[in-house]
Amino acid sequence: MQQVALPNVALIGFMGTGKSLLGRMLAQRWGWRFVDTDSLIEEQVGCSVAQIFERFGEEYFRRQETEVLRSLEHQRHLVIATGGGVPTRPENVRSLRRHAVIVLLTAEPEVILQRVQPVETRPKLSTAPDPLAEIRRLLRERETAYACADIRIDTSTLSPSEAVLRIEELVKAWKPIPPP
Ligand code: S3P
Repeated sequence: MQQVALPNVALIGFMGTGKSLLGRMLAQRWGWRFVDTDSLIEEQVGCSVAQIFERFGEEYFRRQETEVLRSLEHQRHLVIATGGGVPTRPENVRSLRRHAVIVLLTAEPEVILQRVQPVETRPKLSTAPDPLAEIRRLLRERETAYACADIRIDTSTLSPSEAVLRIEELVKAWKPIPPP
């Protein structure tokens, strides 16, 4: 797939919107490399995201995220699945903008709840008495952060192959807005 206006494609969005599954499928389809920021951090730290939150705290995890994103800036032909909280730090968005078309995947809160089971493995939801209410609250809180995307796709009712084709179509058609 050569017709992309920037070297890489980054998938952002809430947990359960399909970033990892669709990212992997896209990378395979295009012959690009797939990377997942959560997995890169897990490899670097040597334990799971849930354990990192538990042992070192969220702030430590967020610093690792920023570092991992920096390390991707000079690579090309990557499909990057980002952790759901990545766009909440403006420096992360600036970093992605330098080299990637940013695609926001969305889904209805009820669909997200079904897809993130078991919530015990999701540190941002595992302690919430009402995970659906917490998903809604976090989605509202992150609305502005997620609005940084160049492209937005609702995956609630799409099959994975439909979603992949839709992402491909929109990414190919996307052009950066020229500066005034
Ligand atoms: C998080 C999302 C997770 C992971 C961590 C925090 C979040 O990634 O980075 O549990 O704050 O939304 P996925 O969106 O890949 O599940």
